[in-house]
Amino acid sequence: MPNQRLLNRIAIVTGSSQGIGREICNQFFEEGAQLVCADLRPTGQGEEVPTHDWIVQKGGKAIFVKTDVSNADDWKALIANTVEEYGRLDILVNNAGICTEANNPQPIDEVDEAAFDAHLKINTRGVFLGCKYAVQQMKKQEPHACGLRGWIVNFASMVANIGMPAGYTASKGAVAAMTKTIALDVAKQGIVANSICPGFTQTAMLDNALGGALSSARDAVLAALPRGRFGEARDHARAAVYLASDDAAWVTGVNLNVDGGLTAQ
Ligand SMILES: NC(=O)c1ccc[n+]([C@@H]2O[C@H](COP(=O)([O-])OP(=O)(O)OC[C@H]3O[C@@H](n4cnc5c(N)ncnc54)[C@H](O)[C@@H]3O)[C@@H](O)[C@H]2O)c1
Repeated sequence: MPNQRLLNRIAIVTGSSQGIGREICNQFFEEGAQLVCADLRPTGQGEEVPTHDWIVQKGGKAIFVKTDVSNADDWKALIANTVEEYGRLDILVNNAGICTEANNPQPIDEVDEAAFDAHLKINTRGVFLGCKYAVQQMKKQEPHACGLRGWIVNFASMVANIGMPAGYTASKGAVAAMTKTIALDVAKQGIVANSICPGFTQTAMLDNALGGALSSARDAVLAALPRGRFGEARDHARAAVYLASDDAAWVTGVNLNVDGGLTAQ
């Protein structure tokens, strides 16, 4: 395949078993990357073949490492497994996340505290830990010809820009803000860090949030989308390819809205 933009780059993708994460693995494979698929379980909701097996069946290189992104020991093992298998780590995609409030949103004075904490633990602490342990590894590595030794792509959300349920919104706003901190902390070391802020995208998370694939809430959301369709996992996976490539060598600390124009309104 000509012009593979991630040829032989070593990439960890969290939340790899379904939805956006699975398609990131697929697009990264198409671009020549070698993959470490990290998730709570290898087979995602609605999938028959685990992502790493799918990539290997297509002729790529991929392994699965069982990982809870909120657990520091899991991150240490994930980075160690990656270096043992491939020798280095070029790209970290912090895609894993949860959104359990959207199908029953509560006003701030009624928000469930355990649900709030769970969003911070997985969506924010998970990204923090991933960046912390990936940067420790990336700093030890020789840079590529483009001058970079590492790329970080975090998944925030449109809710970093607009108010939605409290726990999810706080957790994703924190990712967008922290991405700028990370970008500045590692800029001199040849590492770039950016985030993608997805809008409403057709995955299991959206189906759960809107109360099923055929709900009236779904029609109302669709009517509000300037581009006239829901996002697809591929929309975000292609954005991630760009942010993980040499083409983004001078792009860092950016929160990229991939939302069909939703937050331009
Ligand atoms: N789908 C949307 O409309 C939308 C909108 C904005 C942002 N996002 C963000 O995009 C990312 C991907 O979303 P998606 O729609 O593909 O979601 P999804 O629910 O389909 O997939 C999420 C994946 O993350 C994994 N995961 C959850 N908790 C984990 C943990 N503790 N450790 C490891 N893995 C864990 C799940 O097992 C699953 O495979 C998420 O960060 C999400 O918040 C999605």
